[in-house]
Amino acid sequence: MPFSGLIKNMGTNPRKTFTFDGDWNKVRKAYQLYDYINLENGYYNILPTYTLEYQIDKLKELNDDGSYYMRKYMPTDKQRIREAMAQFLQVPVEELIITRNTTESLDTIISGYPWQKGDEAIMARQEYGSMLDMFKQQARRFGIVNTFLDIPLHPSSDEEIVDLYRKAITPRTKMILVSHMINITGHILPIRKICDMAHEHGVKVLVDGAHAIAHFVFKISDLNCDYYGASLHKWLSVPLGAGILYVKKENISEIWPLFGEAAYADTDIRKLNHTGTIPMHIEKSIPFAIQFYNTIGGECKEERLRYLQRYWSDQLRTKQGFIINTPEAKERSCGIANIGIEGLDPNIVSHKLLTEHKIWTVAIDSAGVKGCRITPNIYTTTEELDQFVQAMETIQKNN
Ligand SMILES: Cc1ncc(COP(=O)(O)O)c(C=O)c1O
Repeated sequence: MPFSGLIKNMGTNPRKTFTFDGDWNKVRKAYQLYDYINLENGYYNILPTYTLEYQIDKLKELNDDGSYYMRKYMPTDKQRIREAMAQFLQVPVEELIITRNTTESLDTIISGYPWQKGDEAIMARQEYGSMLDMFKQQARRFGIVNTFLDIPLHPSSDEEIVDLYRKAITPRTKMILVSHMINITGHILPIRKICDMAHEHGVKVLVDGAHAIAHFVFKISDLNCDYYGASLHKWLSVPLGAGILYVKKENISEIWPLFGEAAYADTDIRKLNHTGTIPMHIEKSIPFAIQFYNTIGGECKEERLRYLQRYWSDQLRTKQGFIINTPEAKERSCGIANIGIEGLDPNIVSHKLLTEHKIWTVAIDSAGVKGCRITPNIYTTTEELDQFVQAMETIQKNN
């Protein structure tokens, strides 16, 4: 029926609603799962069937309504979705835009900052490759200088990490790029302390929050960062192709948009959001995904993810032949951890896990990290993790 989207509106699924009473088996049933164990939820989270169906409904509505929807209702919907996201993140809506992913969010800042020749930027080698590439591009284009540092896998204190960044700062330093959670190890960094220290030196901090939002509980406003980018198709389980960019008000005016935009003032963050025609059914699924997340509850989800990680990692941590590349302290990790087998290429380990044990993981062999990244999700069972532990022991023994 034409214009059905105008009637159904966003935020509720007319077909089904999910309820949660603490039973994780019920959560598992909310997903369509197949005959393999998926421990690679770090790339993106597959959708619960509720959100999948909701997204399909929204796609059909878009097709029914055609450009009428885009011309008449899309701008209002976009604003309402942005407001819903700002409320969820507890940030002022004037400091937030919905993007397509972390890459777009962070690259908007890295490319839009008014770099001068000789300006310096600091980043760890463990940052995500695309962001490192974007900084390298700015070095070629504007003559900026990038300083790289290595994050210790097992820091003894927050100060050890903050000191690394402090020591890399010079009078020419303009920006630090830092991950809230390092993607290859699951290491959560002390962002607030890094930001406070950087600001004492007049240095801005760009935070890569790809793995943080809806994974563990925090408020962006508590971090005191200048810019924060994240993907919503990771832990919030929004359909593929949604992200956010937060820019603190006083930093907006100096950032140049990636795509030309003259409709908004330099001080208006929406100048950074001219993306052309976009798949609105993705954005329209955001409030629904928030609802699904809220039904479980942030603290409850965080606790479950950390429990699942510790369930397997504590069994292998002290066993001979295994190397855990993720800090042990509770506050420094959550659902993701990385494990290597001594003397074995992680690519071989992940290949054996998949072909001999039907367990899907990803091999990491970069920036001083050699191991498989293991990322369960809220639908993962402890029985699956027992199978994983057994599989790792078998692979290690037969090595
Ligand atoms: C730390 C980190 N930053 C950025 C990204 C890029 O995310 P996206 O591809 O959604 O832009 C990823 C993806 O895995 C990541 O792990």
